[in-house]
Amino acid sequence: MGLPYFGETLQFYSQDPNVLFAAKQKRYGDVFKTHILGCPCVMLASPEGARFVLVTHADLFKPTYPKSKEKLIGPSALFFHQGQYHAQLRKLVQSSLSPEAIRKLIPDIEATAISSLELCAKQRVANTFEEMKKFSFEVGILSIFSQLNSSYKTELKKNYCIVDKGYNSFPTNLPGTAYQKATRARKRITQILSEIIRERKEKKLLEKDLLGHLLDYKDGNGQSLTEDQITDNIIGVLFAARDTTASVITWILKYLHDDHTLLEAVKNEQRMIFESNNRGMLPLTWAQSRNMPITSGVILESLRMASIISYTFREAVVDVQYNGYLIPKGWKVMPLFRSIHHNPEFFADPQKFNSSRFKVSPKPNTYMPFGNGVHACPGNELAKLEILILIHHLVTKYRWEVVESNDAIQYCPFPVPLHGLPAKFRKDQGHEVLK
Ligand code: HEM
Repeated sequence: MGLPYFGETLQFYSQDPNVLFAAKQKRYGDVFKTHILGCPCVMLASPEGARFVLVTHADLFKPTYPKSKEKLIGPSALFFHQGQYHAQLRKLVQSSLSPEAIRKLIPDIEATAISSLELCAKQRVANTFEEMKKFSFEVGILSIFSQLNSSYKTELKKNYCIVDKGYNSFPTNLPGTAYQKATRARKRITQILSEIIRERKEKKLLEKDLLGHLLDYKDGNGQSLTEDQITDNIIGVLFAARDTTASVITWILKYLHDDHTLLEAVKNEQRMIFESNNRGMLPLTWAQSRNMPITSGVILESLRMASIISYTFREAVVDVQYNGYLIPKGWKVMPLFRSIHHNPEFFADPQKFNSSRFKVSPKPNTYMPFGNGVHACPGNELAKLEILILIHHLVTKYRWEVVESNDAIQYCPFPVPLHGLPAKFRKDQGHEVLK
């Protein structure tokens, strides 16, 4: 459990947490305890342990986030809840992110990918992670609002960035601090969303996007959602969608850059589609996005290798017995996705990038880049779709050269290549006139 009071917080924040987990797993096995940020925690590094907490006994564990973070996102966002409220909200979010809903977004996602790549190419050196954050934010906006007036979009983006900075800062309301600025920006976002909702109600627009689903919802007693509940869930989805997707794309660009044979294989796959679409004059189709086996393998393997959500937190709501261990009520419980994804028992030679490994399905409950159970990611299909579309346009029209090519990692808080993978993007000869 580490030092009295401090526990292992210092080790957790000063060294690579994966090294700390690996050392403890080696010493104690798949179930071990620690003490982080004033909380006793049980860590579970086995597929069975993760399944117990997230799937079969999910009702015994509630999601848990620091209050300061909950306040910035909005306490009614679905991922802070369990039970009936969570199930209702989740259904709404899921229906706006279903395959039927997201396939309609393909033309807009394509247009967004094309302009994001053009922006990258305009810079001498682009910070890949920062540029991909802008791309995934735009796609998040599409899934929430379909089309959004550009002045609202600019205001939302500006204020969201301030909230994001404050989210990972020390929570104090002292004037001038990142947290206090974030609290103010969060209030401005509420006002902007209120304006958007008012306009939509006035125009009686019947969109099938997330905002449409949230506005249309009525529970069994005919009760609608409050504006706060709607706002918190919109910000929650943007928050869940942006940095996750952006960091995975950044890793993919690094892995492809570092492996020329793999890059050529992806290019060949995408060029065939490009040619069959009249050299990019026709839009990508849903069927084409479902039939990109090599590129899809790269995405799945990048999700495993980078394991950007390395673990998640839950809290035991009662004393729980697991496999001969007692997890006391109030203790935090952390299923360690990354440790499972990097266990040689489930993934041979786990430190090696091998996108062919997914030709055979992984063993049940060993592959959880999008979590598992009642809180598993409802945005996973959208994330994969937008990544495929971006890669299609990238490899058929651009070359990119990483400026600082090394294996150093930075935590933002998700792991990303150091300095966000600075890279030079240049249009391939002969593609200047396309689209
Ligand atoms: C590659 C990108 C992404 C990754 C790796 C990812 C990963 C995850 C994981 C691991 C969880 C579960 C967390 C837990 O159990 O504590 C989750 C939840 C969630 N994700 Fe994603 N996500 C991604 C993209 C997206 C996108 C694009 C959206 C929406 C447009 C989204 C929306 C959500 C929401 C709303 C939840 C909360 C679900 C609930 O509590 O019921 N995610 N995500």
